[in-house]
Amino acid sequence: MMRILPAGIILCFSLALPCHAVLPLIVNTWPFRDATATAWKTLSSGGSVLDAVEKGCSQCEIDQCDGSVGYGGSPDETGETTLDAMIMNGDTMEVGAVGDLRRIKNAIGVARAVMERTKHTFLVGESASVFAENMGFTTEDLTTNTSFSIFTKWLQENCQPNYRQNVSPDPSKSCGPYKPHALPQQRRRHQLIDIHAHDTIGMVVIDQAGHVAAGTSTNGARHKVPGRVGDSPIAGAGAYADSTAGGAAATGNGDVMMRFLPSYLAVELMRGGADPSVACKTAITRIKRHFPGFFGAVICANTTGSYGAACNKVPGFSQFPYMVFNQKSNVPIQETVDCI
Ligand SMILES: *[C@@H]1O[C@H](CO)[C@@H](O)[C@H](O)[C@H]1NC(C)=O
Ligand SMILES: *[C@@H]1O[C@H](CO)[C@@H](O)[C@H](O)[C@H]1NC(C)=O
Repeated sequence: MMRILPAGIILCFSLALPCHAVLPLIVNTWPFRDATATAWKTLSSGGSVLDAVEKGCSQCEIDQCDGSVGYGGSPDETGETTLDAMIMNGDTMEVGAVGDLRRIKNAIGVARAVMERTKHTFLVGESASVFAENMGFTTEDLTTNTSFSIFTKWLQENCQPNYRQNVSPDPSKSCGPYKPHALPQQRRRHQLIDIHAHDTIGMVVIDQAGHVAAGTSTNGARHKVPGRVGDSPIAGAGAYADSTAGGAAATGNGDVMMRFLPSYLAVELMRGGADPSVACKTAITRIKRHFPGFFGAVICANTTGSYGAACNKVPGFSQFPYMVFNQKSNVPIQETVDCI
């Protein structure tokens, strides 16, 4: 019996394209395998690329991937877990995002509701939670024994490490309340904190027809100042999708990365014909020039199903694992890229 092969596979063999260039394609940050599998299942059972991104990322919210996504992780200075998420439709350039979302587990679901049920793009804080409740999302305490014990340990260690600077009392000796003091004459570069305090699921999905969607979900930086929103929910920073060019998503130190819009930059480079790996590398290099010690990685995919990733090499982080699923692999495959 003759099997009709997806167009990508035919291209792959007949035009000697790199054989990983096959559609549909799922790529996501970190070895969050179940998220990849859920996205694939969603797509192959007739869901759209947006459905796949939403369900894939919410799988991580349910599984508390790495403790860095969803409830019960990364308590802020008051011990509360708050969530950031976004979703982007690369056909229509619509975006929905939430930041500092409280008491709702399904942050990317709320982000999608912002996109589809308002004319806005980004809702934050308590008001975002009220919006979510009105849209039927369940309100729950996001604190778990694990996040509570991370928080109490941090209190016992005099609230160290933390993200304050140029304040008194000396944050190395005690917790707040903090008051500003005179800034040093010489501006100091941002001190980098625990690299494992910033993970995020970022996902790019491209279907057979080349529709692109991207999204992210995270509980942000551990011991963050309340109100802090990272790069993940910011279009062009945490993720970007454009069905005429490709998709990208970022993970890492969002306070630094959001200033460079690495996902937007990577997609623009792919629009200009750059290979996805090269586009990702350039986005990392742009940040590295200013912050050589920043912790971060970017994943990139173009509309014909080629993909790549790049990361910045810092002590303790020389390789970045990410997940790929396409018609050729037929199971979620973990790939690894050497950092630059
Ligand atoms: C959480 O901690 C409480 C009090 O220490 C304990 O009773 C409960 O069983 C713990 N829950 C889990 C899921 O470990
Ligand atoms: C995607 O990247 C591959 C590998 O660099 C390249 O051969 C292909 O032409 C690119 N596709 C598009 C639409 O630019």
